[in-house]
Amino acid sequence: MTKKITVNVNGTEHTAEVEPRLLLVHFIREVLNLTGTHIGCDTSSCGACTILLGDKSIKSCTVLAVQANGKSITTVEGLAPEGGPLDPIQEGFKENHGLHCGFCTPGMMLRSKELLANNPNPTEEEIRWGIAGNLCRCTGYNNIVKAIQWAGAKMRGEETPSTEPEFV
Ligand code: FES
Ligand code: FES
Repeated sequence: MTKKITVNVNGTEHTAEVEPRLLLVHFIREVLNLTGTHIGCDTSSCGACTILLGDKSIKSCTVLAVQANGKSITTVEGLAPEGGPLDPIQEGFKENHGLHCGFCTPGMMLRSKELLANNPNPTEEEIRWGIAGNLCRCTGYNNIVKAIQWAGAKMRGEETPSTEPEFV
């Protein structure tokens, strides 16, 4: 048995017949071939699969594709138009060396997008709580926090903090 769904992904409508049991993360990766959304666990704990469903960041391994029917999704591929400027959150990660292997980075950036949309000037503690559902095995988090602070300043139209990445 399949069900027809239509989902707007990064501004483009996609219609597909999917099994009701298909997870949204598998729909994104295997049906749409948008492999920037990663799978890092079987337990809904790593956050590598985080996307925006509407304006909410969600772990796409915890949602069925059919639950996204009629909704809009943003994946990492949709953060910046092709050939266009980077999103401030991408710039923040780039400027502050907010990644090492990059496996957690798409999910981390999309989680940060919602965090900054709800709280444009978060404290360090608020950022650390805000990304608590996204695990990074490489960076030690300090540069990720700086990246989010940098992006927040850019989005507020303020001078961005000078970047002094820490290497762990
Ligand atoms: S793949 Fe780990 S939380 Fe979704
Ligand atoms: S940069 Fe490697 S898991 Fe975060």
